[in-house]
Amino acid sequence: MTAKELRTMYVSFFRERGHREIPSASLLPENDPTVLFTTAGMHPLVPYLLGEKHPLGRRLTDVQKCIRTSDIDEVGDDVHLTFFEMMGNWSLGDYFKEESVSMSFEFLTRHLHIPPERLAVTVFAGDEAAPADEETAQAWKRLGLKEEQIFRYGSEENWWGPVGHTGPCGPDTEIFYDFGKPKCCESCGPACTCGKYVEIWNNVFLLFNKEEDGSLTGLAQKNVDTGMGLERVLTIFNGKTNVYETELFLPLMERLAELGAGKELPLRDRRIIAEHVRAVTFILGDPRRIVPSNTEQGYILRRLIRRIIRLFQKAGMESDCLRGLSAIVIDQYRDVYPELGENRDFILEELQKEQALFSRTLEEGLRKANRYLDSLEAGCRNEEQRGTGSPENGKPAMLSGELAFRLYDTYGFPIEFTEELARERGFAVDMGGFQRKFEEHQEKSRLASAGKFAGGLAEHSEQTARLHTATHLLGGALRKVLGEEVSQRGSNINAERLRFDFSFGRKVTKEELAQVEAMVNEAIDRKIDIVLEEMPPQEAWRSGAIGIFSEKYGDMVKVYTIPGYSREICGGPHAGNTEELGRFRILKEEASSAGVRRIKAVLERKEI
Ligand code: SER
Repeated sequence: MTAKELRTMYVSFFRERGHREIPSASLLPENDPTVLFTTAGMHPLVPYLLGEKHPLGRRLTDVQKCIRTSDIDEVGDDVHLTFFEMMGNWSLGDYFKEESVSMSFEFLTRHLHIPPERLAVTVFAGDEAAPADEETAQAWKRLGLKEEQIFRYGSEENWWGPVGHTGPCGPDTEIFYDFGKPKCCESCGPACTCGKYVEIWNNVFLLFNKEEDGSLTGLAQKNVDTGMGLERVLTIFNGKTNVYETELFLPLMERLAELGAGKELPLRDRRIIAEHVRAVTFILGDPRRIVPSNTEQGYILRRLIRRIIRLFQKAGMESDCLRGLSAIVIDQYRDVYPELGENRDFILEELQKEQALFSRTLEEGLRKANRYLDSLEAGCRNEEQRGTGSPENGKPAMLSGELAFRLYDTYGFPIEFTEELARERGFAVDMGGFQRKFEEHQEKSRLASAGKFAGGLAEHSEQTARLHTATHLLGGALRKVLGEEVSQRGSNINAERLRFDFSFGRKVTKEELAQVEAMVNEAIDRKIDIVLEEMPPQEAWRSGAIGIFSEKYGDMVKVYTIPGYSREICGGPHAGNTEELGRFRILKEEASSAGVRRIKAVLERKEI
């Protein structure tokens, strides 16, 4: 059976049972702000699970693209993926447990022809928050499952959601395929990771909403939310042992073997490359375009791409292979997910940019990282020789948070990536220390941009006010010339010059700098009055003002506008009119750290 046939078979089965098909939503959730990515088919449906009426009724079905980064460390085994397709069906206050499990049983045994004895199911055993789900256990029995095929677990296994802090949740019944291997031990069951059982479907009874304070409130309607992993079912149906043997991964795996990765790279690394290439292609191809960055979804994307590039490097492969591999994914899926075809150039360009950005610092960063790890290793050996105890006996020795932060800040190593490097050599990373360094750094940039550093914006002289206004004009001009992705990363002003750090993936050309300079001087020549308004931060953002969003603002913020050029949340002070600035001149443009450029500029007196 092909993936296409499976998708059709699933959706048709539920359509025949009164469900309406809905399209796969974006990977970036629009209806659920509690998660970064759509991790399951239910996220786009949250308002309807909470009681809003869905325009297509109370029975829905779809195939939803999902990203689950919680499984990233398992990727490379037989079945775990960061990107996968979830086939799902929902009852929004319509059918409930009995009908749900009986439809699942029918689909599995009559349509996928899985022998009932190859199934194992789990049900919720109950706890102080909610009672045991005996009803579902009995429903499974009525369908013919034997007692030894039904397992009862607590909330760690059989309570689903919410994925974020709040949202719909409830007991579930998970359906496993039993590969038929002998049990690995006395207590072997679906919760065991020995490989005998693999989860293929989860039927959740969304009865509660978890509130901010952690309490559960009953929902007005009883919902069913199910999700079945397409890649896993395809594997099982076609008698394969792992997802990489299915048509969905074969072209990528074959190409990787041709590229020589087979010789150098362990199978697990090849699988990780294939899996991550598919995931990043889908993330970049999403209609709600996101690009690699240091925050939120952009960071996950960056982390996945950089991991691929490191594995290429490990195998001695050219990082250029990345685009070719991504093109395979695009061609393979564009019929089902047309957005991949539509965004083909964007996907390949962004991969190219990120690859170029990271390749520059990767080699040097790896040398540095290895030197740190070498000295750590030498230190451990000395300690052992001195007889002060072996780190082997306790926790592994740790790479300091400060060094990990340096690798992040200067060489663009995602922290998880440094952890992986350290782990490969038997070390851990001091994550607490890293976090502290990271926060210290954030605080510095925050204070710098809020003007609270000595020598920074706090010198309220007229010259610094003028330079401050010039900084806003510079930011505005950079965004116009280089694109909206330019965002401020730091700012520092003294009586002589301004320094402005901003995100951008390459060197800014002479021509672009000249354009930026000219644009700032044009604003000066136009003698524009600078407008100051005060308003609540939400209103400021809504009105298009830029600012550091993660910062904790008070009730009211100041918004400085230089009409036609810039609108920013800022503490000030500023010049009254751009005329006061004189002549703006860029002195220097250079790299500040990975993905961040730095411009130094001055204001000179205007020649009259
Ligand atoms: N929301 C459930 C899950 O993700 C069923 O789709 O497992």
